[in-house]
Amino acid sequence: MSRIFSGIQPTNNLHLGNYLGAVKNWVNLQKDNECFFCVVDLHAITVYQDPKVLRQNILAAAKTYLALGVDPKKAKIFVQSDVKEHTELAWILNTVAKISELERMTQFKDKSIQHKSNINVGLFDYPVLMAADILLYDTNLVPVGEDQKQHVELTRVLAKQFNHLYGETFVAPESLVNKFGARIMGLDDPTKKMSKSAASANNYVALLDDPKVAAKKIMRAVTDSGSEIKSGSGKPALTNLLTIYSLLSGETVKDLEKKYIGSGYGAFKKDLSEVVEEFLKDFQKKYNNISDAEVLKVLNTGANHMRGLAEKKMKVVKNKIGLLV
Ligand code: AMP
Ligand code: TRP
Repeated sequence: MSRIFSGIQPTNNLHLGNYLGAVKNWVNLQKDNECFFCVVDLHAITVYQDPKVLRQNILAAAKTYLALGVDPKKAKIFVQSDVKEHTELAWILNTVAKISELERMTQFKDKSIQHKSNINVGLFDYPVLMAADILLYDTNLVPVGEDQKQHVELTRVLAKQFNHLYGETFVAPESLVNKFGARIMGLDDPTKKMSKSAASANNYVALLDDPKVAAKKIMRAVTDSGSEIKSGSGKPALTNLLTIYSLLSGETVKDLEKKYIGSGYGAFKKDLSEVVEEFLKDFQKKYNNISDAEVLKVLNTGANHMRGLAEKKMKVVKNKIGLLV
């Protein structure tokens, strides 16, 4: 049994990449581990968010966790800003983190290009807050998509640097990245990851997309040259579509390739569009059945539990560095 921590930013609504790359894994892990799943609202504001929309998105993200199968009886679900120790620890870790290390973060470099007019200090410091999220709870494993591996690696570095300066305090965590599905690619461009901030809505399937619209996005998805339904190098689009199909249906890619020998892209995409449509219908039915009151209760219980753990850990940390406790 390991301690598991992960989080997603409540920006727009979550997409199939977030589910297949991250939350699907959480649902499996919650059975045999101590799991903490966070809505990381303080990370979200490193890119400007409309306050009214943010408030809705925080609840929407938590509802999404529940509707995708995260079970509050097994895992704690909470909002980052409800536990003030996250920011407190982030400040302390800032005094250990090196500017040169943060400058290497590819997400920072990418977002600095995307948000040229708002390269704020928070955007730069983002990985240190993420390290605080993880280290505050003595986390062993961090299930994330491929793009977050570098941040977990930095978290390990910070834990070790802190321990070296002040004595054994933090557990150095490891990322848990699925071999399969860790990087779901854009439907309109299979060389880039599926992303909420993509220029075209045809890039992604949002979990709250109208299922019929989502089915159309699959039908419109870019394919590779040739006509074979096969994954592998030189077939980035089909590899991606087969990955999505396999993860949603439970059939292996090999079986799917066999099933579609001799079929064209049209028939394959039609079937996949139905799988996606059904998945979204089922998800949205569950999502719409969760009331605000219900999700607020879950978040409240989660925050109370996490505050207890966080307060205890902060006492240890403060003591180590010579602050009065
Ligand atoms: P974010 O939407 O950036 O807050 O990401 C939340 C989680 O989803 C993280 O674990 C990401 O690594 C994961 N994720 C985001 N986009 C993708 C994608 N296209 N494929 C797989 N995982 C993803
Ligand atoms: N940075 C992560 C992302 O964009 C979200 C995140 C914040 C996170 N804190 C975390 C993920 C702690 C895992 C653990 O996807």
